[in-house]
Formats: sequence, structure tokens, C-alpha cells
Amino acid sequence: MEKLHHHEILFPLFLLLQFSSLLLLSSSYTLPDKYFINCGSDSNATVAGRIFVGDTNSGSYSPPGQSSSLKATNASTDTSPLYQTARIFKDPSSYELNISENGMYVLRLHFQAFPSPVNLSDALFNVTTSNFLLLSNFRVPNSSNSPLIKEFLLTINVRKFKIHFTPSQETSLAFVNAMEVFLAPESFIPSNASHVTPAGSNGTYNGLLSHLVLYPVHRINVGGHTITPEEDTLWRSWIPDDAFLYYQGVAGNCASIEVVYYQAGGATNYTASDLVYRTSKYSSQDFYPITWRFAVSKNARHFVRVHFCDIISSSFNVLRFNLYIYSSFSRMVGLNELNGFYFAVPFYYDFVVDSDSSGFMNISIGPRENSWNKTAYLNGLEIMELMGWDAPMQSEQNKKRLFVIVGSVVGGVAVICILLAVVFFGLKRRKAKPVETLGSHLRLKVPFSEIWYATKKFNKKLVIGEGGFGKVYKGTLTNGTKVAVKRSEPGHDQGLQEFKREIEVLSKIRHRNLVSLIGYCDERSEMILVYEFMEKGTLRDHLYGDSEGSSSRSELSWEQRLQICIDSATGLDYLHTGSVGGTIHRDVKSTNILLDEDYIAKVADFGLSKSGYLDQTQGTTGVKGSFGYLDPEYFNCLLLTDKSDVYSFGVVLLEVLCARPALDIFLPREQVNLAEWGMSWQKKGQLEKIIDPFLVGKINTNSFRKFGEITEMCLKEHGVDRPSMDEVLYDLKFTLLLQQTAVHRKPYEDSTVVPSVELPLPVVQSLPSHSVPVEEEDQPTVMDGC
Ligand SMILES: *[C@@H]1O[C@H](CO)[C@@H](O)[C@H](O)[C@H]1NC(C)=O
Ligand SMILES: *[C@@H]1O[C@H](CO)[C@@H](O)[C@H](O)[C@H]1NC(C)=O
Ligand SMILES: *[C@@H]1O[C@H](CO)[C@@H](O)[C@H](O)[C@H]1NC(C)=O
Ligand SMILES: *[C@@H]1O[C@H](CO)[C@@H](O)[C@H](O)[C@H]1NC(C)=O
Ligand SMILES: *[C@@H]1O[C@H](CO)[C@@H](O)[C@H](O)[C@H]1NC(C)=O
Ligand SMILES: *[C@@H]1O[C@H](CO)[C@@H](O)[C@H](O)[C@H]1NC(C)=O
Ligand SMILES: *[C@@H]1O[C@H](CO)[C@@H](O)[C@H](O)[C@H]1NC(C)=O
Ligand SMILES: *[C@@H]1O[C@H](CO)[C@@H](O)[C@H](O)[C@H]1NC(C)=O
Ligand SMILES: *[C@@H]1O[C@H](CO)[C@@H](O)[C@H](O)[C@H]1NC(C)=O
Ligand SMILES: *[C@@H]1O[C@H](CO)[C@@H](O)[C@H](O)[C@H]1NC(C)=O
Ligand SMILES: *[C@@H]1O[C@H](CO)[C@@H](O)[C@H](O)[C@H]1NC(C)=O
Repeated sequence: MEKLHHHEILFPLFLLLQFSSLLLLSSSYTLPDKYFINCGSDSNATVAGRIFVGDTNSGSYSPPGQSSSLKATNASTDTSPLYQTARIFKDPSSYELNISENGMYVLRLHFQAFPSPVNLSDALFNVTTSNFLLLSNFRVPNSSNSPLIKEFLLTINVRKFKIHFTPSQETSLAFVNAMEVFLAPESFIPSNASHVTPAGSNGTYNGLLSHLVLYPVHRINVGGHTITPEEDTLWRSWIPDDAFLYYQGVAGNCASIEVVYYQAGGATNYTASDLVYRTSKYSSQDFYPITWRFAVSKNARHFVRVHFCDIISSSFNVLRFNLYIYSSFSRMVGLNELNGFYFAVPFYYDFVVDSDSSGFMNISIGPRENSWNKTAYLNGLEIMELMGWDAPMQSEQNKKRLFVIVGSVVGGVAVICILLAVVFFGLKRRKAKPVETLGSHLRLKVPFSEIWYATKKFNKKLVIGEGGFGKVYKGTLTNGTKVAVKRSEPGHDQGLQEFKREIEVLSKIRHRNLVSLIGYCDERSEMILVYEFMEKGTLRDHLYGDSEGSSSRSELSWEQRLQICIDSATGLDYLHTGSVGGTIHRDVKSTNILLDEDYIAKVADFGLSKSGYLDQTQGTTGVKGSFGYLDPEYFNCLLLTDKSDVYSFGVVLLEVLCARPALDIFLPREQVNLAEWGMSWQKKGQLEKIIDPFLVGKINTNSFRKFGEITEMCLKEHGVDRPSMDEVLYDLKFTLLLQQTAVHRKPYEDSTVVPSVELPLPVVQSLPSHSVPVEEEDQPTVMDGC
């Protein structure tokens, strides 16, 4: 028996998708226990690189006692040798296979009712293992020439594995043409996956590996052709998707790629044939969701693996879209950390999906408002029924909810459904406390007429900014106060939820480094927020102006930049730890840091912020934030903590130093993402090579080194390794001091050592810091498993 050789490759957590996926990357995966059996034959047959050993004379697999061999009459020479013989059983019989290694095995049974003296279509039988009924009252129709191949994925942890064939009383006949039993690659099936019910996501499903048999019912090569066992690493067959498209002709096939780039943490070449990843269906821009519909058992539980590989984008990180299962949002796809350096990186997501009583499962991909390229793609799909799982009776309540959700999907507008689901769950979860209304903030209410007047009827000339929410106008209230008026526009991404959130957060917070809310207006279904006016605009404008290159850029000195960083860090620290406590901003970026006339920085835009004291409903809507600033841990695992802000702030620090955008898709590949680009230079100890030319020669070496270290700590992959905001603040103050006093440190001094010079600061804390425990309720329930 050959020994299993494989290399476990350890990789950072941020590379993990939603579960620890296949670790096998090398070609050295071999099968320790493999049985390819040519039943009823005395000769070996080589099929797709495997030797199917004849079971009659081989001696190694003694065929069951009460059985005999059967040869096809007049088999043509182009019939596969596997289907020219069969082993037939008149009494209950079993194959017994020695198993040396426990684990998940693939079992394939081949049936073909070929012409012979015995009428094989007459056979009626059960196939069982010691624990499972795999096939019950099974009959093989002889109408088609293609064999019937039944596959099962099952855990074997016995030394002797038995497969029993039990003919029914009436016919006393069972048969099998060929058998495959081999160990699947390690971690082929994860132990847990996101659980999706027809009513929506329902946390994590554990115990996928415990006493279950997976029975593949659909294996689809989306956008491609039929893949034969010869073309697949585990000898699977994949069929094209066209027959399953709900609306024909809504998507195009894409097959442009010759190679795919397997990356640690994503798929491997055993996850699927690379042909699956080399073709996809994709949509045109601004499309309606594309839906595939698959016949499945009613009210059954399924393991669903969805395969992706971006072969359509021409730039990095421009595309993300939604995946829906049963019209409920299941997860965001795209923009994952695997895509950093290559296009065409195969990856996949796993789900456990409970089917409804329709006998179909809908799977859709739909556009995302905040994606730069509003398209979507799908490469492959596997649906496997979980056998050995008994559907519990659905409670009345669940049925009702199902009706509400399914009923409202009929229009095909899945988005409405998600909203419904969010509202539904939201209301449900908030039942305990009264629904908070805007009424409690009445003193902040500003009449629409006043805003109308202040902005000169929303005069275009007064537009000073535009964001995900809508436009921002400069205005002057009747009492002379200059204000910034943020008016939501229909069709924009941010909605009522964010509007309320911002009012709730800002009405409770007053801080020198947070932009204050002067009022709001919700008349005529308007969503308008009125803020104090920040004379000097956004930090970004001062660093590098807008993308058109119009140089609004004012050359801030290093000291000024540090002071701005200190101000913003102070604001964020207050958000995290101040009197309101535990608020996470979630959208820290240079356009959300505003400067007043004295260049005092204030953090703005609390639409996405999240606080332990407010309700938790928005966790269900997936990743929010801005491209280029997203904490990888939050992005991949939806693990949201105040350390996510620290990460984004680290990106801002780099922007301040390098005076370039966090994401610039027009730059060469390795430079697109500032965080990656900056850290690659920092790790080489050459961060100075990419700084803002204006700063060259103006930064004190120690100040610069400290700044680089802070940035690096902020950008650590794991939140727990990042400093807290108050630690960042301390260090930034220290950095400024180093610049101002030009403290000379001896070269052997480690950065964590407090300089011997007397500093008017408390003891400078060293990085890394102790971690802040993650609050349980901060973890959204949608996409657990990281
Ligand atoms: C799987 O990929 C590895 C490299 O990642 C390669 O060496 C190996 O030959 C591939 N195996 C198969 C069966 O394609
Ligand atoms: C069939 O293959 C098995 C294992 O590879 C070998 O032991 C046996 O001798 C072969 N039988 C024939 C008839 O070639
Ligand atoms: C299975 O193991 C038994 C001993 O446990 C041994 O006698 C038998 O030959 C083995 N069969 C095969 C096919 O390896
Ligand atoms: C076998 O096939 C040949 C031609 O392919 C045919 O002439 C012959 O009758 C067939 N024999 C039987 C028993 O079906
Ligand atoms: C073979 O069995 C099937 C199913 O019992 C039956 O429909 C068919 O007529 C049989 N054919 C012959 C030749 O007996
Ligand atoms: C199955 O094959 C037998 C001959 O082996 C034939 O008589 C019978 O009509 C076939 N049944 C069907 C449904 O094609
Ligand atoms: C086959 O399995 C079914 C259960 O699905 C059972 O009712 C039947 O008795 C079994 N038949 C035999 C011959 O064991
Ligand atoms: C969600 O899961 C919980 C426990 O994990 C279960 O009690 C509840 O019924 C599930 N809800 C649905 C809609 O399946
Ligand atoms: C946007 O998507 C289309 C497919 O719909 C693709 O052809 C195009 O290259 C994409 N654009 C970018 C910048 O990736
Ligand atoms: C599947 O999707 C189609 C089209 O969106 C819809 O009409 C149908 O009701 C959906 N079925 C289920 C079970 O969700
Ligand atoms: C899911 O499985 C992974 C390993 O595959 C494990 O690390 C993780 O803790 C599991 N998650 C849950 C919620 O059980």
C-alpha cells in the first residue's frame, strides 16, 4: 500500500476563505487506499489513467461468494471495457475492502444494463454500507447507451469497508459493472459551512463530516463544455449549465484564459478540473440577477460548492457582486485577498443549503451597487445532497416566513427580498426594545425650506463633494452659520439605515476631532444631513487632489501632516473608547478626514459606523467600507472590531506619507493597492523610496522610522496584532516629537526603547499591544466560519 504524501502549507489567516480549504497544492497527493475494480472480469482495464483490476482472478479483491460474472453479448469494440462485464448477485452479497487510512472517501458505482442472456433492467436492489442505505429499490433502465454512475462521498473509519448488494425478493437480481473507492484529498469537505435556508442565512452549519454521506446531484461547468473523467483530477464528470439557466440568453460564455493561478487558500487543482475555472458565464454591465434553477429533493439538506475564478476583469479589485441562494443574499464575491497579484485565481465558497418544498434550488448572481464594474461571473457549481439527515418538521412559524420571502421573489427582484429579509430579521431581533425613531432627535430637525434657502435651491455651483450618499453642498443658514449639506439622492447606495445611524451617532457625540452634526431633515422623504462646514476640505485634496490632477494640492509640511494624523487618531480613539463607547467607524479614509480653517482634522461620515449600544441589524448586509481601506480580516471573515478602523487608518498613514490614493487601478499591478505596495517597501526597509517627493529630505530619520513602524503595525493581517487607537495616538505624538526635537537615537536602539531624552509624554507604549477581546455580538451571523 502506498503511503499518503502531502505537504501541508500553512498560510496566514487572512488568506483563508471561509474555512480552511484544501491544503494540498503539490502533485504528490497519491491514493493510499484505492480500489478500481472491473467487476465480473478476469482482465485489467485501463480507463482514464486508472487500472481497473478484474475481480475474477486477481486474488486481491475476492469477489463476493454468492455471485457470478456476466459478459455482454456482442459488445462493440468501442464500448468501454468496464461495461462489457458485470458481477451479478442473486443473494445478498458484499465486497470487502481493506482500509488503512481513515478519512473522506469517494465511492463510485458504475451500472450499465447491457444486452446479455440475463435481463439486467430487471434487477431491483439496494446498495448499503454498514451505516447507510446508498441506493434503495434501484433499477437501471437500459434505454440509454451511457452508463449510470452513482457517486458518494463518505467517511470511512473502519479497517474493513463493506459494500452490500441486496436483491429484492421479486427479482433476486443485483449487479454492478465497476467500482471506485479512493481517499479524497485532505480537507476536501470542510467540517462546517454557512447555513442557508430558503428564508435566509442561518449561521454556521457544523458537523458536515460527522456520519453523513454526500451524494452529488449536480456538477456543473458553468459557461463551458462537458468535462469527462479523463479531464478531471478526481475523474468527475461536469456538464454545461445552459439547461439550468432560468432565463436563456442573459449571460455570455467566457473562455479566454489558458492558465489559472492556484493560490494558497483558494482552490487547488483537485477542487475541480481547471477546465471548470477556465470558463465562466458572465453578465453584461448593469444586469438583472442571473438565475440558475436546479432540481433537488424537496425539504432536503444539501452541500453546495460554488466555484469562481475571475477571468473577465482587466483590472484588479474592480469587481464584486452578490451571490444569492434561494433569493437570499448569501455572500459577496470578488475582491478577495487571493486576487492580489494574479487574475484568474480559482476560489470557491461552501454552503449548507436546505431546500424548500418546490423541488428546486435557485442560485443567482447579481450586481452590487458599490462595485466599480457592475458585472458578475460564475465558473462552476456542485450540489450534493446530505444523506442520513432527516428533515425535521418545519414549524408553522418557519412556513409563514418562507411564504413571505418566497412570495415576494416572484418578480425576480431579489434585492427587494433582501431588504425584506433584513427588515424582517431586523424587526424580529429588535423586538425586545422599542424601535428607535428619529423623534428623539427633534431638536436637530431643520425645515426643508431652510435648507432649500441655504443651498440656493441645491445650486450645482455649491456642490463641494459627492459620495456614496449623494451630493454635498456648501450652504449658509439664515443665522449666518456656514454648513455642509449632505443630501441623499435616489439610486445611491446609502439608505435610511445609514441616515438614521449617522444621526444617532452624531447626536450623542461632541468632540473636537469629530465633525459635528448641526441638523437633519427628513421631510418629503428627503434624507439630508447638515454639518459644520469644514473650510479646508478633505485631507485627500491636500495630499494629491482629485484624480483629474487639478492641483488643489497644498503642500502640507511633515509636521502638519503628523498633526492631522494625531487629530484624526484622537477622534477615532474617542469613538472607540470615549463616553459613547465601542463605536466602530467602518469607513476611515482620507476623504472622511476634513480640515477646518485652522487645519484641525475632524473625522466625518458616520453612516456606516457601528456601536455596541445601537441595534445590530446591519451586520446581515455584508461587508461595508471603501475599496483599498478594507481590513482583510473584516473583509474575509466579517470579523468587525475597532481594529478594522486601525487598519484603515494605517492606509491613511501611507496616503499621508506617499501622497497617492489607496487604490489606483491605472498603476502597474503591484502598485495598485497602496497598503500592499507600501508594506512591500517597508519590509525591505526602503519605504523612503516611495514617499511624496515634496517630503524628501524634510523628515527626520527617526521620526520617519517610527512612522513606518506605526503604519506597519496598523496594517498587520490580524486585528489582534494591531495596536489600539490610543496606542497609535501615543506613537504618533512621539513621532511628531522626534521630528520637532530631532531626537538622535543611537542606531542600536530598538524602536520600543524609550529614548533617554526627557520627553513631556507619559511612558511611550511599545507595540504590539495587548489585544482587545472581540465582542460576541459584533460578529454578524451571516458568514461565520473564519
Ligand atoms: C496540481 O497542481 C500542481 C501545482 O500546483 C502540479 O504540480 C500538479 O501536477 C497538478 N496536478 C494535477 C493532477 O494536475
Ligand atoms: C491486474 O492488475 C493488478 C494490480 O495492478 C496485478 O496485480 C494483476 O497481475 C493484473 N492482472 C492482469 C491479468 O494483468
Ligand atoms: C485485507 O487484510 C487482511 C488481514 O486483515 C488480509 O488477510 C487480506 O489479504 C487483505 N486483503 C487485501 C485485498 O489486501
Ligand atoms: C452481433 O452483431 C452482429 C453485427 O454487429 C450481428 O450480425 C449478429 O447477429 C449479432 N449477434 C447477436 C447474438 O445479436
Ligand atoms: C427486462 O426487464 C424490464 C424491466 O423488468 C422489462 O421492461 C423488459 O421487458 C425486460 N426485457 C426482456 C427482454 O425480458
Ligand atoms: C431493454 O433491453 C431489452 C433487451 O436486452 C429489450 O428487450 C427491452 O425492450 C429494453 N427496454 C427498454 C425500455 O428499452
Ligand atoms: C431496500 O430499501 C428499502 C428502504 O428504502 C426497504 O424498504 C426494502 O425492504 C429494501 N429491500 C431489501 C431487499 O432489503
Ligand atoms: C436557524 O438555526 C437555529 C439553530 O441553529 C434553529 O433553531 C432555527 O430553526 C434555524 N432557522 C431556520 C429558519 O432554519
Ligand atoms: C468589466 O466587466 C466586463 C465584462 O462585463 C469586462 O469585459 C471588462 O474587462 C471589465 N472591466 C474591467 C476594468 O475589469
Ligand atoms: C426561482 O427563481 C425564479 C426566477 O427568479 C422564480 O420565479 C422562482 O419563484 C424561484 N423559485 C424559488 C423556489 O425561489
Ligand atoms: C469551522 O471549521 C474550521 C476548520 O475547518 C474550524 O477552525 C472552525 O472553528 C469551525 N468553525 C466553527 C464555527 O465551528
